[in-house]
Amino acid sequence: MLWVQRRHREQGTRAALMGAVCMALDIASLVDTGTGRQSRLIYANEEIYRQELERIFGRCWLFLVHTSQIPKPGDYFRTFMGEDDVIVIRQKDGSIKAFLNSCTHRGNRVCRADRGNARAFTCNYHGWSFAPDGALAGVPLENEAYFGELDRSKFGLVPVTKVSEYKGLVFGCWDANSPSLEDYLGDAKFFLDVWLDAMPGGSALLGETQKMVLGTNWKLPVENVCGDGYHLGWAHAGAMSAVQSMDLTGLSVGNSGVDLDGGLSVAGMNGHMVLSALDGVSGYAFYPDPKPILEYLEANRQTVIDRLGEVRGKQVWGAQVNITIFPNLQLLPGLNWFRVYHPKGPGQIEQWTWAMAENDMPEAVKTQILENQCLTFGLAGLFDNDDGDNLAACTEQSRGWRTAQMDVYTNMALGRSGKREGFPGDIAAGLVSEHNQRYFYRRWQEHMMAENWAEVPTYNINSLTAQEAEHA
Ligand code: FES
Ligand SMILES: [Fe+2]
Repeated sequence: MLWVQRRHREQGTRAALMGAVCMALDIASLVDTGTGRQSRLIYANEEIYRQELERIFGRCWLFLVHTSQIPKPGDYFRTFMGEDDVIVIRQKDGSIKAFLNSCTHRGNRVCRADRGNARAFTCNYHGWSFAPDGALAGVPLENEAYFGELDRSKFGLVPVTKVSEYKGLVFGCWDANSPSLEDYLGDAKFFLDVWLDAMPGGSALLGETQKMVLGTNWKLPVENVCGDGYHLGWAHAGAMSAVQSMDLTGLSVGNSGVDLDGGLSVAGMNGHMVLSALDGVSGYAFYPDPKPILEYLEANRQTVIDRLGEVRGKQVWGAQVNITIFPNLQLLPGLNWFRVYHPKGPGQIEQWTWAMAENDMPEAVKTQILENQCLTFGLAGLFDNDDGDNLAACTEQSRGWRTAQMDVYTNMALGRSGKREGFPGDIAAGLVSEHNQRYFYRRWQEHMMAENWAEVPTYNINSLTAQEAEHA
């Protein structure tokens, strides 16, 4: 037994030393945006991961909940900020607060359910209970055991420093010095509004949380969806031939050649990225029967044009659109799936997915959206299964002694970006490039090198407000 303990200690010391050696490499050397090179250490190294928890997940605005998931006072939803377990609770006055799901006595969880409605959260261990506003409301044997000397006001649940909402999406942030949520989202709002504000009824997430544990580093699925149009025609060739109901040549998929006019890779928006087709319908190309949703699009197209302008109303609404909000939120209006990635160590994530809809959609269309999301991007989704194996293998192939010394590349279409009339951001033509991934790793590096928010650069390249877009 002693031997085992000593051996664990030695291994711990060795791991710490290895970490120190790796950090001596310094973050600047791990990513080279100019050549599109990344060291494989960033997918496997424990010390780098601990720094990500501090400088990325401890600093950025992170998605917590959609307001449709906690409509009534007392409604709560449990989620994660990095590896920190958090409860988000609708208050009596309608506002939303969030707290660490950790008892201030001995650290146990105070909430075990995923979601629900509660008047109090009572800890399983010794029975302390906390009100929905986080206050310590009850302590068993308070007078006998603490002699009436416990200052309850010092033992409330720890609140998330900042909680803010953008059109139904609630985010939290641990860093008091972060920019406002609106400034953080920057020009990505131009694209977010294609879901959140296209129709007067607004947006909702459908169904329960679909959770999947995957053996991948958290950055790999994010970069896959944020910019990797290259893999569509290859990794998903089988899935697409099984479910594709429309001609997708405009999306540059199916290995049918690269169509530079059919879509955009948009980056340069404070680390947020968008891949967007421009045909206004292709989001629904994987629906076995796209007729009901196409009728909905046709019936409401003019409304959306009136609200968002021609560029978004005609070209983007209904098209395949992949939106990434740095660091770990992805939503695909059109394909209608919405996802966060919760890191669980350098080599594992929990991937949480919901179907997304507009409240104005007929119930039959919402049902169809939920079914199709499960069929394509969900626990048993054809597309997710294609991606999962590739991403897990890329992670595993970065863990070896020799492979950890190697690099990987996102150097496609380097230097071929610029402005596109009517759109914000630094744009590469088409969906097949690695333009967005380079910006993702650039943002990762900027955060990892910065001591605080003041050192994180702000950039909304070719910024274009919604109003300007109307007249573009
Ligand atoms: S750990 Fe929660 S009451 Fe003791
Ligand atoms: Fe994929």
